[in-house]
Amino acid sequence: MGPGLSRYELADLSTAQEKIYRFFLRRLPDLTTGPGDHLLAKISAADALDQRDLVVFAVMMFMAGYRTSASFLAGAIVTLLRHPDTLSAARADPELIPAIVEELLRYTPMATGGAKRLATADTDLNGLEIKAGELVLVSLEAANHDPAAFSHPDTFNPGRDTSGHLGFGHGAHFCPGNRLARMQIHAMVTALADHSPALRLAVPPHDLRWVNGAAFRTPQAIPVTW
Ligand code: HEM
Repeated sequence: MGPGLSRYELADLSTAQEKIYRFFLRRLPDLTTGPGDHLLAKISAADALDQRDLVVFAVMMFMAGYRTSASFLAGAIVTLLRHPDTLSAARADPELIPAIVEELLRYTPMATGGAKRLATADTDLNGLEIKAGELVLVSLEAANHDPAAFSHPDTFNPGRDTSGHLGFGHGAHFCPGNRLARMQIHAMVTALADHSPALRLAVPPHDLRWVNGAAFRTPQAIPVTW
């Protein structure tokens, strides 16, 4: 949600969210007892959550997993199309792909806002006073482009040491979907490198349009040619 959304769009959003809750409420029995060795079935079998909490959990995983992946993958495709040498390198040596995935996670911004934290105690952060109860917005993207952490941070360089990047956050709220997400990004890089050697942006990068008012940064479209 953001300032770009009108009252009507917000109403649409809450209707859509309600539909997602209703979907999982209706389908939960099938999802937990149906085929497959998956997380919902395991949590249900462990009897760790009641029905209501299981629905909330399923909705959270769906909402936190789908929009993030879809938005990030589109942004990462733009990054790769702007760096054709990286795609050629991945094609020549697929063992480079894990390092490319990590640099994509560091370099490509995903969120348009910040990770939210509520201070539980008065805190001093390098001279910045934060009072208990205050909301703090932390830009993981700014941290990933901090020259004190990464030299020439605005240069896309899969050869660099990316350890400590905050593409999946940090600490207690570190992304639980990180392994799945890394597999998705790896598959995307492989597909672009292997199947689309001639693919390139059909417009200069600064002419790309980005979706406004959303929580996640993603292109409206990726015009390509080959
Ligand atoms: C490229 C894809 C993804 C990226 C870049 C990403 C990134 C992130 C980041 C930065 C956070 C931390 C937010 C914070 O500190 O407030 C986070 C949290 C989370 N992610 Fe992901 N994520 C991705 C995919 C997924 C997938 C596929 C799932 C689930 C299947 C998922 C589930 C979650 C959940 C549930 C949280 C909240 C964790 C908590 O608050 O304890 N994410 N993700």
